[in-house]
Amino acid sequence: MDVTFLLNGSQVTAKDVAPTTTLLDWLREDQALTGTKEGCNEGDCGACSVMITDDSGAHALNACILFLPQLHGKAVRTVEGIAAPDGTLHPVQEEMITHHGAQCGFCTPGFITTMATAHTNGATDHETQLAGNLCRCTGYAPILKAAKAASEAPVPAHMHDTPLLLDQNTPGEKPKASGAEPPTTIDALACWYLDHPAGTLIAGATDVGLWVTKGFRDLGPVAFLNRIPDLRGISDGGDHWRIGAMTTLTDLLPFMATHHPSFAEMIRRYGSTQVRNAATIGGNIANGSPIGDGSPALIALGASLHLRRGDARREIALEDFFVAYGQQDRQPGEFVEAISVPKQDDHLSCYKLSKRFDQDISAVCGCLWIKLDAGHVSEARLAYGGMAGTPQRAKNAEAALLGAAWTRESVEAAMAAMTKDFTPLSDMRASAAYRMQTAQNMLLRRYMEDSGQQASVLEVAP
Ligand SMILES: Cc1cc2nc3c(=O)[nH]c(=O)nc-3n(C[C@H](O)[C@H](O)[C@H](O)COP(=O)(O)OP(=O)(O)OC[C@H]3O[C@@H](n4cnc5c(N)ncnc54)[C@H](O)[C@@H]3O)c2cc1C
Ligand code: FES
Ligand code: FES
Repeated sequence: MDVTFLLNGSQVTAKDVAPTTTLLDWLREDQALTGTKEGCNEGDCGACSVMITDDSGAHALNACILFLPQLHGKAVRTVEGIAAPDGTLHPVQEEMITHHGAQCGFCTPGFITTMATAHTNGATDHETQLAGNLCRCTGYAPILKAAKAASEAPVPAHMHDTPLLLDQNTPGEKPKASGAEPPTTIDALACWYLDHPAGTLIAGATDVGLWVTKGFRDLGPVAFLNRIPDLRGISDGGDHWRIGAMTTLTDLLPFMATHHPSFAEMIRRYGSTQVRNAATIGGNIANGSPIGDGSPALIALGASLHLRRGDARREIALEDFFVAYGQQDRQPGEFVEAISVPKQDDHLSCYKLSKRFDQDISAVCGCLWIKLDAGHVSEARLAYGGMAGTPQRAKNAEAALLGAAWTRESVEAAMAAMTKDFTPLSDMRASAAYRMQTAQNMLLRRYMEDSGQQASVLEVAP
């Protein structure tokens, strides 16, 4: 298939490319743009960071798990395009030199690209912006100082890329013999998936990308969902919010910050800036992962899932979607169109426990919806990831809480009841006993926070 986009300010067309060609491979092998490095090749290290501009602005993304068709009509800027065309260094490049932030040649290009993207956006939360760029040598202090020092400088004109915003049906971009299809409407996607029930849908590719780069899988026919605007965005559905399946975690974060701030704080720790800019909430649910962070939070909020197969649509409670490990209530040819979240006051606390604070998959993720009336629990939805083969509610613990006074005694009774809810596994992330204890302690933490005792997971207390 042919894919057209801007590369460092010039329009290019990648001709006859296999749909699962990654931007990283294409840059390095076809364009000899080797400044973009391959470190982990799985979205973890940021050495391959590039700036992608689309109709929603400039975003840092990992080129190693970004397929070329995801770029159609957008603008790509690599580390080679960060200095001005006349060679004048970008303010972040100048400050990296001044502050001795340019350490090894492997990570520095990725740091520069992420910093320049944040600078273009006026973002000053430098630690969050750079959490997806790993340095294994001297550390982050000089890099953060450089980012801070550059933040007051004006954005160089060449950094304001204007995406091509091509007509989605531009002639010449149609797939040839590759088996890929670029549906541009939900109806077209529904038809395509009925015709190709064994095909692979690709949303942000933060999971699917790894099937290719690490699993070396041949995906067969694929459909990219990024060209379907109707699958993106959050709309007001009256008594609920409707979140399109292709809404990225980056776009979900500010929405949740308004309505359910604890969920937003968990999203801030979800992957990295680069991962959140690509990852979609639909992909996070559809992958069926027992350790995904989105599903427990949405289950605790009482969310439902809108599924579509051909012309048939159905809505199910999100918690019923997860049948067993690796098995979801989804028919061949059926896809996630949207998620509905009821409009309601906020009673949600989300706790993400991972070995590393930033950019790490959860060992346990506990999302607790606890509503009190006159000091008694009137609603309890305690949804956990990492405790079973699917995201799951702690129904026995909920039953112990419902109607009870919100006291330490009833919380401890619910913690004891939770042992009947889950039989967690031991794996590289956590032992079964640790998982159980931390899941129970999340409930205790919620009680203590309600009692005015805030816990900081970054502090070691006696
Ligand atoms: C470095 C890194 C860090 C990560 N950190 C986290 C983390 O902290 N928390 C977390 O929960 N996850 C994390 N993930 C996992 C991943 O980012 C999420 O699961 C992500 O939300 C998947 O969305 P996507 O759009 O990238 O899906 P894709 O990779 O495009 O697709 C995932 C699966 O869903 C299917 N699919 C996608 N959209 C639809 C749809 N609309 N209908 C039906 N099927 C669909 C695809 O066919 C595929 O099977 C991380 C991944 C990486 C690489
Ligand atoms: S090479 Fe590590 S994130 Fe891409
Ligand atoms: S900059 Fe590469 S390891 Fe630190």
